[in-house]
Amino acid sequence: MGIIMEKKVTTATLREMKARGERITVLSAYDYPTARMIDDAGMDVILVGDSLGNVILGYKDTLAVTMDEMIHHTKAVARAAKRALVVGDMPFMSYQASVADAIRNAGRFLKEGHAEAVKIEGGRGMVEKVEAIVQSGIPVMGHLGLTPQWIHQLGGFKVSGKTEAAARMVVEDVKKLEDAGVFSIVLECVPWQLAKLITERSGVPTIGIGSGPHCDGQVLVLHDLLGLTGPHVPKFVKQYAQLEGTISKAIAEFRQEVRTGKFPSLNHSYEMPSEELKKLLRRFKARKRSVR
Ligand code: KIV
Repeated sequence: MGIIMEKKVTTATLREMKARGERITVLSAYDYPTARMIDDAGMDVILVGDSLGNVILGYKDTLAVTMDEMIHHTKAVARAAKRALVVGDMPFMSYQASVADAIRNAGRFLKEGHAEAVKIEGGRGMVEKVEAIVQSGIPVMGHLGLTPQWIHQLGGFKVSGKTEAAARMVVEDVKKLEDAGVFSIVLECVPWQLAKLITERSGVPTIGIGSGPHCDGQVLVLHDLLGLTGPHVPKFVKQYAQLEGTISKAIAEFRQEVRTGKFPSLNHSYEMPSEELKKLLRRFKARKRSVR
């Protein structure tokens, strides 16, 4: 059962929540039914993450995800989200090559996908693009720390900002993104002390993932939370359910019951009224006689 619908969440709502010290809840989604459940549960933001690539489409990382794939899934999520703010994650190479690409593709998320904001990975190198998108009327969420689209440059999935010099880079990038006009920043896998420092000093809400308890909000990938992403569970993930076992058991049971004839029983079948059945059988018999 859904919760009572509150006012639609906007970027202003998130700023107000930070000012009030109210924690912001964010989850990823890629389809209509899970987005509906997330919205009904009262989550503030639904991120159509490019984690779509690993989680749903079976790619080895997020680099192969295309704009068309992101738009297709964003549309489904947006149809379900009545209250939550829908943020579309701009995939690899949809904004890096030029400002024109960045504006055009961010625009597609709103025009075709019906998202209300976009997310971009990267710091100082992305400032020009962020500014241009914001000036086009599209709210932008930043993403710093472990940025999976930069995996080959980062040399793997590692905690970011562990040394004083690296931490200073992240702090500077936060300031640059804020000045460029982002409404919020995801901090992925940075040490919790750094995330706390940034959150205390930043004018925009920070959304943590693997960055400790002091961010203004928290995001998880839905399938991580549900226990649907295989045996490897990153340190920062808390599984609130283990659905992989539940789903596999249900599928195995269905297979077994079909093979043994247990399913479907007459309880799962539709019945023909007996008078109609009699008429049909009489017709069959009559036809059989005329063929002989
Ligand atoms: O793609 C994604 O789901 C993300 C979140 C993990 C922040 O970027």
